[in-house]
Amino acid sequence: MAKPWAASVLTIFPEMFPGPLAVSLAGRALEAGLWSLETLDIREFGIGRHRAVDDTPAGGGPGMVMRADVVGAALDRAIAGAPELPRILLSPRGRPLSQSLLRELAEGPGAHLVCGRFEGVDERVIEAKGLDEVSIGDYVLAGGELAALVLLDGVVRLLPGVVGAEASLSQESFEQGGLEYPHYTRPRSWEGWEIPDVLLSGDHGKIAEWRRREAERVTKERRPDLLGKNKGGKV
Ligand code: ADE
Repeated sequence: MAKPWAASVLTIFPEMFPGPLAVSLAGRALEAGLWSLETLDIREFGIGRHRAVDDTPAGGGPGMVMRADVVGAALDRAIAGAPELPRILLSPRGRPLSQSLLRELAEGPGAHLVCGRFEGVDERVIEAKGLDEVSIGDYVLAGGELAALVLLDGVVRLLPGVVGAEASLSQESFEQGGLEYPHYTRPRSWEGWEIPDVLLSGDHGKIAEWRRREAERVTKERRPDLLGKNKGGKV
């Protein structure tokens, strides 16, 4: 079997992994060896008796900053074990996570995911180790761990053999450049709400056209910023 997609997570809270990824689709895929997970506790590289990983910001100001020497030593260890993996820092300052980035990562060998905490990570280690900063949205979490779990969830479901009906992946939101059309299933009538007639017509041409128009309507309404771009099917 091919080498499993390798998740290498650097964090001061290794107990947060695999967390929710131990169940359902990702959990089954982990057990089946379709991906692997290794955590590295950054605190192992901490300074002094208290294994400090952070210190006060140079120039003053509130909060604490993760030390370059500590994060750097943890990264050196992780990179030595898997030099081929891209290096990502989860941070609200990063470029936005997108379906195309998930796909790019899923097509690669895995990733080192550094979970930032406190006010941030010393800029020098970001530059020196070539960390690619990625954000999961314009809001601030207490740390990068949940963002890493989000990224991993998104990658794992794209790995070959994880999702049964591969065709459904190419239909879903963002893969075609916009949001997906609405879905319905049984019962045909529910609390007075009906399934649109066209979906029960058996006319596949009409159904495809209806779905195309609905996808466009929903995208226009909710995410006009997605319209007209990424015609190649990528966002
Ligand atoms: N860490 C804190 N907030 C974050 C965000 N929005 N994305 C990624 N990592 C984060």
